[in-house]
Amino acid sequence: MIVVTGATGGLGSQVFKYLLQLLPASQITVSLHNPSGASEFIKTSGAQIRQGSYTDSSSLDSAWAKADKLFLISYPGISREPRVAAHKSAIDAAKRLSIGHVYYTSLGFGTGISPESVADVMQAHLETERYLKQSGLKYTIIREGIYSESWPLYLGFWSKEEGGDEVIIPNADGPIAWVSREDLGEATAKIIAEGAYGNETIFLSGARTYTLTEIVSLISSILSRALKIKVGTVDDYVTANQGKRGPRGEPAFLQQWATTYTALAKGECSVVDQTIKRVLGRELKPMEQTLREMLGVADDSVDRYAK
Ligand SMILES: NC(=O)c1ccc[n+]([C@@H]2O[C@H](COP(=O)([O-])OP(=O)(O)OC[C@H]3O[C@@H](n4cnc5c(N)ncnc54)[C@H](OP(=O)(O)O)[C@@H]3O)[C@@H](O)[C@H]2O)c1
Repeated sequence: MIVVTGATGGLGSQVFKYLLQLLPASQITVSLHNPSGASEFIKTSGAQIRQGSYTDSSSLDSAWAKADKLFLISYPGISREPRVAAHKSAIDAAKRLSIGHVYYTSLGFGTGISPESVADVMQAHLETERYLKQSGLKYTIIREGIYSESWPLYLGFWSKEEGGDEVIIPNADGPIAWVSREDLGEATAKIIAEGAYGNETIFLSGARTYTLTEIVSLISSILSRALKIKVGTVDDYVTANQGKRGPRGEPAFLQQWATTYTALAKGECSVVDQTIKRVLGRELKPMEQTLREMLGVADDSVDRYAK
């Protein structure tokens, strides 16, 4: 039996959807942090639903009992301590329950599978990776590449309604091998179902890179609107974003997130790895398609030119 965590989230929902195409629902259990948030798809899937929170180890003991494999989604947020504590609690539970294989969703900073990164957001993942490797459990660490859908996070949460015509980024720009959550979800599901990559760290990334400057230029041409990017200091970046709704407007978050751009300039997210294409056996979703969908501008070129 496979336990799937994070099935209400962006990546976990895709992994769950594709696992259901590969295995009978009776072999899948969904472990939900908050079962009242389960989608209709989860409720009608035929998979068993149990309640389990990383921060409540007794809930994990019952939610993950009798699991052969565990798909462990990383804890949301960017603060290191709560994430590491949640991941350690989950790995400890997997050990207590003698789960046969743990698949952990790490992050694609650090040039492929390097054990180092200057990005603050990667530190919790690196610590979790070390803890999992030392646990004695059979593991697969999947460095999920930078989501194509996450570009607003790298552009100060720019949106066509609220964003201005100039986007300030701190420190530097750099290439990113963006990859869609749907492609990541399908590939991750296949890897879990096949039981491949035991005691390995693998990296799933997109088919080509785009810098943030290139992303802004694509957005400009999709929207027919002149947008430009300015590389400023960390102070410029904090001033431009301070006060925005939620954590994204808090100086502490912004300063922490600024380290991401130094990592990009070092090429930490620039590696184009062929693993995902080998696993999927098909081409990946192009970044431009994701941008068009998210910007609400459909690509009508097929209708116009392929009659
Ligand atoms: N590769 C990238 O570019 C990228 C970008 C952003 C984030 N990430 C990381 O990748 C992870 C997955 O991404 P995502 O887009 O699927 O994130 P997401 O949509 O925020 O989903 C996070 C999931 O974690 C669950 N969760 C929250 N607290 C939990 C707890 N205490 N115990 C167990 N589960 C808990 C949530 O359940 P509820 O819905 O019940 O709260 C949700 O299903 C994120 O958590 C983050 O660490 C990666």
